[in-house]
Amino acid sequence: MAAAGSAVGLGNIWKFPYMTGEYGGGAFVLVYLITIAFVGFSVMVAEMLIGALGRKDTVGSFERLAPPDKKGWKYAGFMGFNGLIIMTFYSVVIGWIFYYLFKLSSALPTSTETAKATFDNLVANEPGVQIFWHTVATLIVTYIVYRGIKGGIEKINLILMPALMMILFGMLFYAFSLDGFSKAFSFMFEPDWSKLNSEAIVRAVGHSFFTLSLGMGAIMTYAASLPKHTSITQTAFIVTFMDTLIALVAGLVIYTFLFQEGAPAAQGPGLVFISLPVVLSNFGYIGTFLALLFFLALSFAGLTSAVSLVEPVVQYIIDRFDTTRLKAVLIAGSAYYIVGIGALLSYTKAWGETFSIAGKPLFDILEYTTDSILLPLGGLLIAVFVGYVLQKERVRSALAHEMGDRYFAVWRFSIRYVAPIALVFMMLNLMGVLKI
Ligand code: PHE
Repeated sequence: MAAAGSAVGLGNIWKFPYMTGEYGGGAFVLVYLITIAFVGFSVMVAEMLIGALGRKDTVGSFERLAPPDKKGWKYAGFMGFNGLIIMTFYSVVIGWIFYYLFKLSSALPTSTETAKATFDNLVANEPGVQIFWHTVATLIVTYIVYRGIKGGIEKINLILMPALMMILFGMLFYAFSLDGFSKAFSFMFEPDWSKLNSEAIVRAVGHSFFTLSLGMGAIMTYAASLPKHTSITQTAFIVTFMDTLIALVAGLVIYTFLFQEGAPAAQGPGLVFISLPVVLSNFGYIGTFLALLFFLALSFAGLTSAVSLVEPVVQYIIDRFDTTRLKAVLIAGSAYYIVGIGALLSYTKAWGETFSIAGKPLFDILEYTTDSILLPLGGLLIAVFVGYVLQKERVRSALAHEMGDRYFAVWRFSIRYVAPIALVFMMLNLMGVLKI
């Protein structure tokens, strides 16, 4: 449940729909789905395996499992620090959601223009408000992390995940009854190949890692406390399946509402903050109630993922420096909190230029670097480590009894060849996009 809570997050409900819009719909979705099926799932099994066998923090697990002459692999464990980089913008977005929870309880905007103006105004002109909510988000996340995996996040997930699913599926049923649904369906599932450029491919592959929480040790860290006889394959399958399902449902719901209003698909990061409230405003009090429910669910999804972004670093600090959990949480929390302020300022009118590099806002740079560079790189390291460095027999004895010999062979082929080749190909593409 905790791993599913990590995977299902803002990536599914905030990021996936808006990226689908920006990169042209169906073709982007198809690359994303193919990557999940042929690369993401195998890497998820591999990442869980490292955690389940290593049973330490990310650096410790790599170090323990690497053969004596290859101890340098422990440095791969520093992928855990990517979580803090992601948190710099993730926390800001959770802050936006909190703000909306308050804002929407009074009145919902009745037209797309007013909704857009509200969101744009928050992001461009209200640094103080954003810092306030980013602070609230940081306090909540760090407090849950402080309570630890068993006492904190596992308990909370048990309530939040089913609540989120119920809200989303309820909205999907409503969406079925609207004309916008068939448009949304063809937008998402009928690929328009002319829209598929290298950048769209890079972003779709990167996003599949982001949404599955792969390549930065979150899944590894959770797997380190899995009960001994849990099936890794089955757990990985459930997490991957749920994550994908929720993203597709969120996409369909949001696009149905959007097309129903005749609004354009490409709206950027403001998408869910703009489209949903407007549609729901048609339903009076019930609409306000639904909007609150939706943003509540979204904030839950974000919080459970945020916790998994901070936890790997916290465990690393505790294990290495023999400090208390409280100190470790304070260090990790303040690091991302401070950079997060820079990220939110980079979208404001007053500070935008100061916090931009080569015309790109810091927020976008952090987002791009993590999902399109660091996570796929982490995934590549995991695939190579499990496919080539770990002794084959060890891997076989951990997995073959779960998968059966035939599927084990398929999985191993995927982790040794399909995943590395796909990821290297993606990185070459990336260099083209970045013009390196
Ligand atoms: N998977 C989370 C989401 O979709 C984000 C995340 C990325 C969490 C990497 C942990 C590690 O929102």
